[in-house]
Amino acid sequence: MSSRNNKSILDLLSLEKTKIDSLFSVADKLSANESIPFEGFGKTGALLFFEASTRTRMSFETACARLGIYPLLLDGKAGTSLEKGETLEDTVLNVDAMKPSFLVIRSGDDLDLKALSEKVQCPILNAGWGKKGHPTQALLDAYTVRKHLGTCNGQKVLIVGDVRHSRVAASHFELAKKLNYEVALCGPKEFLPESGNHKVFSSLKEGLQWATVAMALRVQLERHSSQYSLADYREHYGFMVKNLKDLSARALIMHPGPINQGTELDSEVLQDPRCKVLDQVSNGVLIRQSLIYATLSEGK
Ligand code: CP
Repeated sequence: MSSRNNKSILDLLSLEKTKIDSLFSVADKLSANESIPFEGFGKTGALLFFEASTRTRMSFETACARLGIYPLLLDGKAGTSLEKGETLEDTVLNVDAMKPSFLVIRSGDDLDLKALSEKVQCPILNAGWGKKGHPTQALLDAYTVRKHLGTCNGQKVLIVGDVRHSRVAASHFELAKKLNYEVALCGPKEFLPESGNHKVFSSLKEGLQWATVAMALRVQLERHSSQYSLADYREHYGFMVKNLKDLSARALIMHPGPINQGTELDSEVLQDPRCKVLDQVSNGVLIRQSLIYATLSEGK
């Protein structure tokens, strides 16, 4: 959290467990169509997506719409003054000067969100920041686990694939400490973190037998210096109907999206009743609505 703007959500280590519980409780109310005491009319929220997104961007837009907040969307760099040489930081500071109620930012590592949060007037909500983290994705994943398995506490979450380049995995490492679930990894060594004392399964079969949640990640080939055979990847680490027999009948199959179908997850797996991929997306709206509500309501 920033000192100037302590409502910014840039990571999950700085989010209190009680606040996470409260976010989930509000999401439960929203899911049950219960009303929450909030009036968004006349407010704006600036959604600055400097990198591509479908789920996160549109779920923040939906969350704003449901709360009565007008979303101001900057979707990609094309057509903005970034093309004329304006810096990313200057763009954010200029939008902040329009006095939105909050800034939602997706960016690469080239933008320092922590430093920016010290300079802007309104809270920044991290919507995916380079490889550093994607806190709202981890929160919606955990909310999905809690919804289907009753609790996150004590769950065994197997993250399979490109962990080294994954901001989703980075946020799960943080959230697991808060919600007390165990994270283990599985994937080719080029895809796993170069440091850290993570539990690692060399065989997907053993990992799936251990897990109560099996989460596949997108293979981010664009970030690898050497090419890796996608056919080999699918053979050893892809979620397929045949190898998911090793996963318990009660376990969940998840993926943050976007999915490379036929690489990390076969299309047939989306029909498996344990697969919660689209429910993750629905829950993403609830969690982002809840987060905006908390950001604008607390400490008024
Ligand atoms: N999971 C996720 O961040 O998806 P998008 O890139 O489509 O937002």
